[in-house]
Amino acid sequence: MNENDTEVMAGMLERRGLTRSYDEERADVLIFNTCSIRDHAERKVMGKLGLIGRSKRRNAIIGVTGCMANAKKESLFRKLPHVDFVLGTSNIHELDTVLDQVIAGGQTAIRTDTRFTHELDYIGASRDSKLKTSVSIIRGCDKYCTYCVVPYTRGPEVSRNPDDIVEECRQLIDQGYKELTLLGQNVNSYGNDQKDWGCHFHDLLYRLDKLPGMERIRFMTSHPVDITRELMEAVGSLDSLCEFVHFPLQAGADRVLKKMHRIYTVDEYLEKVATFRELVPNVCLGTDIIVGFPTETDAEFEETYRLMKEIEFSCAFLFEYSPRNGTPAMRWRDDVSEEVKNERLQRLLSLQEEIYAKQRQQMLGTEVEVLVERTTSRDPKYIKGRTRCWKSVVFEGAEDLVGTFQQVKLHGYSHQTLLGDRVASRS
Ligand code: 5AD
Ligand code: SF4
Repeated sequence: MNENDTEVMAGMLERRGLTRSYDEERADVLIFNTCSIRDHAERKVMGKLGLIGRSKRRNAIIGVTGCMANAKKESLFRKLPHVDFVLGTSNIHELDTVLDQVIAGGQTAIRTDTRFTHELDYIGASRDSKLKTSVSIIRGCDKYCTYCVVPYTRGPEVSRNPDDIVEECRQLIDQGYKELTLLGQNVNSYGNDQKDWGCHFHDLLYRLDKLPGMERIRFMTSHPVDITRELMEAVGSLDSLCEFVHFPLQAGADRVLKKMHRIYTVDEYLEKVATFRELVPNVCLGTDIIVGFPTETDAEFEETYRLMKEIEFSCAFLFEYSPRNGTPAMRWRDDVSEEVKNERLQRLLSLQEEIYAKQRQQMLGTEVEVLVERTTSRDPKYIKGRTRCWKSVVFEGAEDLVGTFQQVKLHGYSHQTLLGDRVASRS
């Protein structure tokens, strides 16, 4: 979502006549589009901003945007006096005004609304890739998981008008995009805040799949509670919709899930996984897991371990719990030591590594569809892309295949990357 916001802001700045610079030493404006999800993300930005304050770059116009703007507000000016503006996630549309104000007045400017009310110029975004990109469909989150800062930094759920989404996708297809990722903190809530539109997430998917030239659709991310049978059926039946669904479990013990306010039990989660796999046998499921949530016992962690082993996710993002200011979980002591958190994380990482190895082995000899993204950095005779299930594949081929879909037969792997031979181009 931050990358998408960055591209929207880059588009606004380019329309103002600015050009993008990849050289921090030369840029006149430096914008830090930040994340607050874990302490590590915030510390990285604070460290970098501190360094800039001590360098000659402190005279550039410096802005802090994104979740840290909403989480830290004016305190950013106090800690970092060289920051010129602070612009929250709901105020991106005001970037021009804020820059004008900073330039004209030589004063600081801050906007950190709690609710997203102004549509952004997504069509004018300056996108990094010419092949695959993201389309924002809903912003904010109403789920209030007790560990998570997002409902406070990005505000309540606000769906985007389906006609605007369809139009953006149509234009992106016209521009040659082959893969679109629909974005939201919880895409499955799409339309819940706008009942009169009568458009649920799966309805939107059916509309988008019908667009001529639509090749691949992905979406990110989902809350298990809102993964409906209709959505599963859409994944099974729509040609362009990839059979890869992020389905964040977070923890494997009912007591911890309840304390996290995840509003499902392990059994309910498993039932959804079983239904999904029954309806769409080739579906690949991804997950997020947090270890060391306050009061998580060894036995409860073992339940998470056992569940991950049982489900065999095809992709897992694993995190140590990080206390976030303003969240309900801050009320509870962060009582799992760093050492234990790290031990638990390492155990899950090596379990997931075993699962990946087993899955890679099972894929050998099979054929997959790859969207070719680029030549490999090591050898231009080899090209690289991803399968519908987001697996990275390398095979022999020339640059002119970039942007095409190729059938590849897999014969090996190197680390996480699958290796194969091209069998055919997809017509
Ligand atoms: N600590 C650790 N991980 C977190 N996540 C969200 N908040 C926290 C936190 N306070 C993880 C969740 C979420 C992912 C985007 O980040 O697993 O799904
Ligand atoms: Fe955070 Fe996701 Fe929970 Fe929303 S659903 S509060 S974004 S973890």
